[in-house]
Amino acid sequence: MNGPGEAAAEGAREGTDASERDRVVLVTGGGGGIGSAVCRRLADHRTALAVADRDVEAAREVALEVRSAGGRAEAYGCDLSRPDDVAALVASVVARFGALHGLCTVAGSIRRGDITELSPADWRAGFEDNLDSVFLTCRAAVPHLARAGGGSIVTIASGWGLRAGRRAAAYCAAKAGVVMLTRAMALDHASAGIRANCVAPGDVRTGMLEREAQQLGRPVAEFYAEAADRPLGRIGEPHEIADAVRFLLGAESSFVTGAVLTVDGGGTL
Ligand SMILES: NC(=O)c1ccc[n+]([C@@H]2O[C@H](COP(=O)([O-])OP(=O)(O)OC[C@H]3O[C@@H](n4cnc5c(N)ncnc54)[C@H](O)[C@@H]3O)[C@@H](O)[C@H]2O)c1
Repeated sequence: MNGPGEAAAEGAREGTDASERDRVVLVTGGGGGIGSAVCRRLADHRTALAVADRDVEAAREVALEVRSAGGRAEAYGCDLSRPDDVAALVASVVARFGALHGLCTVAGSIRRGDITELSPADWRAGFEDNLDSVFLTCRAAVPHLARAGGGSIVTIASGWGLRAGRRAAAYCAAKAGVVMLTRAMALDHASAGIRANCVAPGDVRTGMLEREAQQLGRPVAEFYAEAADRPLGRIGEPHEIADAVRFLLGAESSFVTGAVLTVDGGGTL
């Protein structure tokens, strides 16, 4: 049986789109709520998943779950805000699987507060986790995507990268940066066959949402009920974000680049 690298090379020789042949996809924040759902959604016998997270135990669990279900996955521990860590991560993934065809940047974090409540360290950490991580990962991945004949990048921003939310100043600013960085990459790398699109989720049932309630000193149930106040009348589930990612990573979206797909139950209307 061919390894993923050989299979990818075979696809490239045949001139097939990355989404039609065996593919290698790196998912950052793959140990978290939305990232793990993305891994589950992408997992099939033709997709090799590199699951990267600062929480290496969480990444390992997700990789194990994918493998147990018959998929292919490897876990990587990495602080995505560190340039050397990210360069080593991408090099290891390419060494292990032979190529890279897709990237989904899910890693992120939130510190709730207006600018008087946030310390300069909070601001810096918000930008490191939410925006530097996207820049560094895409920067390391793009040459490999180009070498594979093109590929697809999907970034995860937020409805709050499009419309401001209260007491989340650093997060809103960083996520707006993710939106524009994605569009800039779509322009710069289209000629290399690389598409870059963004998913902007609304409130989704994950550990992040629970931590927000804790940071604001609010009971989780009350916080969730408030978050459900949007046209579709509920918060989102991680698999609903993963469905949008799958679409933007694959051949079904072959003429889509620079798009921002809001998946938020109408929360930003
Ligand atoms: N849950 C929501 O309501 C919601 C809404 C809009 C956008 N988002 C975005 O979706 C993405 C995923 O969030 P989630 O809800 O799954 O949260 P989560 O906390 O469950 O997952 C985030 C993951 O990112 C990892 N991570 C954070 N910073 C990292 C770093 N520097 N290096 C390596 N790993 C790092 C964490 O360890 C964690 O596993 C985030 O970018 C978040 O901003 C979430």
